[in-house]
Amino acid sequence: MKIDLTTAKEFLSSHPQLKQHFTAILNKVKKAEGKSIIKIIYNENESDIKKDFLIEDLTQITEAQTFERAKYYVNRLIKSLTEVKQSKINDLNLNRWKEYDDLITDSLWIFNKRDSSGAHNAGYWGNFIPQIPNQLLRRFTKSGDWVLDPFLGSGTTLIECKRLGRNIVGIDLSDNAIALAEKNSDKESNPYNIVAKTIKADSTSFELKPLMKDLRIRNFHFVLMHPPYWDIIKFSQDNKDLSNAASVNEFLELFGKTLDNLLPHLEKKRYLAIVIGDKYSNGEWIPLGFLTMQEALKRSLKLKSIIVKNFEDTLAKRNQKELWRYRALVGGFYIFKHEYILLMQKK
Ligand SMILES: C[S@@+](CC[C@H](N)C(=O)[O-])C[C@H]1O[C@@H](n2cnc3c(N)ncnc32)[C@H](O)[C@@H]1O
Repeated sequence: MKIDLTTAKEFLSSHPQLKQHFTAILNKVKKAEGKSIIKIIYNENESDIKKDFLIEDLTQITEAQTFERAKYYVNRLIKSLTEVKQSKINDLNLNRWKEYDDLITDSLWIFNKRDSSGAHNAGYWGNFIPQIPNQLLRRFTKSGDWVLDPFLGSGTTLIECKRLGRNIVGIDLSDNAIALAEKNSDKESNPYNIVAKTIKADSTSFELKPLMKDLRIRNFHFVLMHPPYWDIIKFSQDNKDLSNAASVNEFLELFGKTLDNLLPHLEKKRYLAIVIGDKYSNGEWIPLGFLTMQEALKRSLKLKSIIVKNFEDTLAKRNQKELWRYRALVGGFYIFKHEYILLMQKK
């Protein structure tokens, strides 16, 4: 369905006339059954708007108590359809912010189901759900930006980069992870022709500069870190692997080295996110989230948000639910259901 709003401003001379005009449009839109996107024409430009949002806006116009208010809503609707307001760090049109209703803006992220569409799968033990990179990339990158994932694993971030049109350098120490990431990547189409570079290397020391020169990357625009949660899952036998650190201090030291290696290549004012969970060991809660956050904040990073994400639906936890419940009751502690996404901005 197409709605022509070009003449809308002519109806701004009286309240009854304006109400009548927009009520007619509202009724027409409501009758457009099943069509979730409506095309709006304004001065020969066409734009798409979700039906629900258009109905909301038109209802606001027709129900406005005063003429001034109604005119304000009309002008706002036209502006939202004809003008783009963007920030420097993403592609969201802030004049149409209401339409991004699936973008989370609060600090508690509850996901009931993993996105397993396309090449995404839960086959790599310790991978994160695709919704995490999806949410973060849409908020903190623009199309064509360069993303760095120094703990690539099975390539969840890479697949999301392909879907969203962001370029990516993904590093992992494990041959197995890199092979899997490449296999998963091959299964995903590349509609935006992004560059996706996978590298088997140690992120604590890998020299990024020559690679960046080759790929003509001046700086990265977003860094997404999903390190091992110390030794909860052993990813390899390699002693450079953070999951093989002999103590929590050594783990933090390696994590800090990774940050020191990467941070110089993140553009100023751009974002870095750390996805991490805590661990429980010998009757003691080890707050890896807070410890890594402290480590990161020793660098030129500003803390922007601590996001708590639920943890319920992981395969490992589901199988051991009963056992953990028993252990919690016996041991006087609570089973963690959450992980952290620590969001920081380079100063
Ligand atoms: C939690 S997993 C990342 C999972 C990934 N986000 C995904 O969705 O598949 C952590 C990864 O870090 C890698 N790793 C550990 N130490 C590393 C190091 N020093 N340099 C690069 N990668 C490392 C492991 O091999 C593992 O694949």
